[in-house]
Amino acid sequence: MMPRPLKYARGVLTVLDQLRLPHVVRTVACRDPGQTAEAIRSMRVRGAPAIGVAAAYGMAQAALASRARSSTALLKDLERAAARLKAARPTAVNLAWAVDRVLEAARKGRERRLPALKALVEEEARAVEEEDVRLCAAIARNGAELLRSGDRVLTHCNTGALATAGVGTALGCVTEAVRAGKALHVWVDETRPYLQGARLTTLELKEARVPHTLITDSTAGALMAAGKVDVVLVGADRVTAKGDVANKIGTYSLAVLAKHHGIPFYVAAPASTVDLSLADGASIPIEERPPEEVLSLQGRALAPKGTRALHLAFDVTPHTLVSALITERGVVRAPYDLNLPETLARPWEG
Ligand code: MRU
Repeated sequence: MMPRPLKYARGVLTVLDQLRLPHVVRTVACRDPGQTAEAIRSMRVRGAPAIGVAAAYGMAQAALASRARSSTALLKDLERAAARLKAARPTAVNLAWAVDRVLEAARKGRERRLPALKALVEEEARAVEEEDVRLCAAIARNGAELLRSGDRVLTHCNTGALATAGVGTALGCVTEAVRAGKALHVWVDETRPYLQGARLTTLELKEARVPHTLITDSTAGALMAAGKVDVVLVGADRVTAKGDVANKIGTYSLAVLAKHHGIPFYVAAPASTVDLSLADGASIPIEERPPEEVLSLQGRALAPKGTRALHLAFDVTPHTLVSALITERGVVRAPYDLNLPETLARPWEG
């Protein structure tokens, strides 16, 4: 069994180094918020919900390490750590959401004595992790119902257990449907340049014994044209009030292709991925990563010296191309500007 992507105990966050998978299973110990932020920035831990959980524990580390002698000073230390953690990766709103949630809990508890306030911060971080396990289970159940036995599902990037604290989002729907007895086949996009599909999704599907085939990202259109894809199912890093979806670069092209071929395009994500403060996709901050990550493959140069490269880590799929959003609170369909806020306002007792 593969280790969990994250494990926290007494101030140390042990991160499964996802840059080395599948061939090297190695963990990295992060002992302070700076090291945790670096594990997020360098993508040793990745996937929107998982980086949210890691950052929440980064806040717990900041509380433990603080030498503050008053709650006001401790809150200042926490605010500094929050800013550093949030800057690690800008697109996935779960990161900012989790950090702000922990900070807010600390602000509310500021009347407590310092040791109790520090304990409260750690408890809130743990609550973020435990909640993610329940969120994933609910998303998986809701999404599994949309899949029919015999479906050939195309997925992008990695949205499974490695990307969350639980069973995953989009990939969790697949493994849940298979667990419920449905026969599925998964087309796995390799997902250039980090190869989350080739390295991580294949590993998870192999462990779950789900039949799958790895394809290059540019193969999707040919498969759809040949009638070999029944559903496209992906995760999300941020969803706007209108239902526009930021996800791993290449998702938008898949959505356009799916629309052209009349194939449902589903997005699975927890409600914490929805950012109602943003009206549409144009306002989502898109992470631009170093060009070297495109110019080389696992440390080996691909292009001639001096070649310019652009590395956008995410793209935005307009809501008009999204057939449904699968959340823990249920499946949401258009009109998203009406149905998303309504679904999110429902209490969730997960
Ligand atoms: O750059 P990554 O690997 O963090 O990107 C991950 C994705 O784009 C996922 O689809 C998304 O975060 C959802 S993970 C459940």
